[in-house]
Formats: sequence, structure tokens, C-alpha cells
Amino acid sequence: MSDPTETAAADATADATADATTAAAEPETDSAYWARYYAVTLERPAWQTVRKAIELFAAEGRPAGSHPGFAVDLGCGGGRDARALLRAGWQVLAMDRESEAIRVLESAAATERGLGERLSTATGDFADFEVPACDVVNASLCLPFVPRDQFDGMWRRIVAALPAGGRFAAMVFGDHDASAGEEGMTCLSPDEFRGLLGGFEIEFWTETEEDKPTALGEPHHFHLVEFVARKLA
Ligand SMILES: C[S@@+](CC[C@H](N)C(=O)[O-])C[C@H]1O[C@@H](n2cnc3c(N)ncnc32)[C@H](O)[C@@H]1O
Repeated sequence: MSDPTETAAADATADATADATTAAAEPETDSAYWARYYAVTLERPAWQTVRKAIELFAAEGRPAGSHPGFAVDLGCGGGRDARALLRAGWQVLAMDRESEAIRVLESAAATERGLGERLSTATGDFADFEVPACDVVNASLCLPFVPRDQFDGMWRRIVAALPAGGRFAAMVFGDHDASAGEEGMTCLSPDEFRGLLGGFEIEFWTETEEDKPTALGEPHHFHLVEFVARKLA
């Protein structure tokens, strides 16, 4: 399992490495892995993709008045992006397979005045999740965990949920990522992702490739593709 690195992770990484060493005797469950991830990343800033999407909508005067603005945050984790959307005035549906993710997000949102009122949550698997009609779909570092045979269907449901002018903000793994080829993971080439965005105007796009520790301190070769795209019609 892989997750991205972040530069300010030194303390958290040391803690996580110590935890991992202690737990080495028994294989760690996915849920336990993700629970550690949420604890480490909870207070990290929102990713640049969601921040960029928020800025692009704000430049159009949204969300406001007749456009309250509804965002869906897929694979929300501890909710760093969901909380950024809430702070910017969006209604947010945050979903994740892990009930711990939803618990962490809901309790963090409850500590900030007004955020919890615009937050709804869903615990479930992407495979069964009908993305509701919304103005923006955010998917940070979660779509790589969709198996290849489910990936195109998931992508179609995201695209179908957006109106013309809606935005899709995502961080995905490219085909040079260390996770490429792992069972259950989908890591496509940047050109393949561009192809999937045929009905969109790409407003922001970056590709980075580097060796770094993950947020939980594991060495990893990252190939990250990050984009914000606006649906054309
Ligand atoms: C690397 S974390 C990213 C969390 C959050 N988006 C962030 O950037 O901090 C990936 C998240 O995707 C969720 N996830 C993975 N596969 C999933 C699936 N099939 N259905 C729903 N959520 C899934 C995991 O539970 C985890 O919370």
C-alpha cells in the first residue's frame, strides 16, 4: 500500500516508523494502516489541487447565493481537503471505505464553528458509490486504489456527476510509480489520464517523479499526476 510524502513530515514520520517497528510482529490490517495515516495527516494542509479548485470557483464568485456549491470528496481520509472546502463555504459530501476516516473528519469538523452543518458523510466502497450530481469532485490519492477493471466505470460516474462548468480535482499515480503493477492498483501514464479528460479543459496540471518516504515513513518511488479540470459540456 502506498501513500504520498510530504515535506513537513519529519516528526510524524519518526513516530510512524516507531509504531511500525512495534507492530512488526503481526501483519497490519488495511484499517490499522489507514488509521495511522489519518492520525499523521489530519493536521496537514489541504492539497494544492483542491486549493486550486477552490480558487478557480472563487474567481467565478462561487459558492454564493444562488450557487451554494456542492462538493464530493472521494476517499476523504482524515478530511484535510473536505475541511478546506467547508471553510471555503462549500456543502461537502465526504466518503471513504474506512469508518475511522469518517470518525476523524467528523470530530475535526465539529471543533470548527459552522463546519459540521455543511458536512455529510458516507462510508462505502467506490465500487458501489453512485457519485451524486455536484459542482466539484475531489479525489486526492484515492483513485489509484481502484482496481483496473473498475477504474473506467468509476471515472465515468465522476464525469457524469458534473455539470458543464463543474470541476474534477485529483491526485493520481502515474505509470512509473512504485505501485504500478501492484494487484488492485491503477497507475496510468500521464497521456492516458489526459485522454480520459477529453471532455474537460485542463486548468492545472503537474507531473512529478521522485524517491521520498511516504507520510508513514516508507521509502517509495512516487510518480504523481495532479490536475484540476473543468467540464466543457
Ligand atoms: C492515501 S489516502 C488519501 C486520503 C485523503 N484523500 C488525503 O489526501 O489525505 C487514500 C484513502 O482512500 C480510501 N480508499 C481506498 N480504497 C477505497 C475504496 N475502494 N473505496 C473507498 N475508499 C477507498 C482509503 O480508505 C484512504 O482513506
